[in-house]
Amino acid sequence: MNIKQKVVLVTGGSGGLGGAHCLSLATAGFKVAVAACNHFDKAKVVVEKIKQMGKPAMALKMDVSNIDEVEESISQVENTLGPVDVLVNNAATGIVRAVTIVKTKMQDWARDITVNLTGPFNTIKCCLPGMMERGWGRIINISSIAGKMGGAGQCSYATAKAGLIGLTKTVALESARKGVTCNVLVLGPMDGGAFHEVAPEFQERIIRTTAVRRAGTPEELSHMVVFLASEESSYITGEAIEISGGAGLFTF
Ligand SMILES: NC(=O)c1ccc[n+]([C@@H]2O[C@H](COP(=O)([O-])OP(=O)(O)OC[C@H]3O[C@@H](n4cnc5c(N)ncnc54)[C@H](O)[C@@H]3O)[C@@H](O)[C@H]2O)c1
Repeated sequence: MNIKQKVVLVTGGSGGLGGAHCLSLATAGFKVAVAACNHFDKAKVVVEKIKQMGKPAMALKMDVSNIDEVEESISQVENTLGPVDVLVNNAATGIVRAVTIVKTKMQDWARDITVNLTGPFNTIKCCLPGMMERGWGRIINISSIAGKMGGAGQCSYATAKAGLIGLTKTVALESARKGVTCNVLVLGPMDGGAFHEVAPEFQERIIRTTAVRRAGTPEELSHMVVFLASEESSYITGEAIEISGGAGLFTF
């Protein structure tokens, strides 16, 4: 694919799936900024692996919920690797929490909405002007089937992930004629990251809701991330693309 040393910023790059995206994007030829809020050590490990491949990368400490920190981090990326051409909004909280709305604590609701929805708003707000000015950009948001179908015990997470689909379509409309695309990946269970924190019997129950009866591999997801980040995806924008092994299908 036509990558031409473009710069990609991955939020939550220290996470299970975020780390996999960083490695796939580096393999494809992108310069990768691996952003992490907590677990900064894990982001450094990802960067080390990329550097061992002989490719440029940097680790960044960035809390997506703090717009000043986002702004500062993006200028760090610009100074080190170059302007951000591709933004992958992968960071999230509340992925495996299962608490009914009645018992949901205000602080958990606020944190999930702030990280999972205001976070992408902040990063897009800071990266989009430069992308539009340069006439090229790719924004890839990571949502969940909980945002499309609802999720029992996941009111804040599902609400934020549903909002991300609306945000994606709006940004796509506002930037399409400036060479920027914005799409959202709607994930089912993936064999990595937060899914590994779910108790085995619940993993089994979730997998039974997929038509293929298994979790997706991080690579099955990262290939789509790389494609959407490339030149070749230029006519795809505003799409909510489900990568879920058919989790939305009628299966029994
Ligand atoms: N694993 C799955 O089965 C699954 C299913 C559906 C959707 N997803 C989505 O995939 C994405 C990655 O999830 P994962 O499974 O790798 O989970 P993960 O918990 O391993 O990764 C989440 C990452 O977000 C980071 N993060 C949390 N708060 C942050 C903040 N304020 N600022 C910056 N970073 C912050 C964490 O440090 C972590 O690196 C998430 O958006 C999640 O909603 C995952």
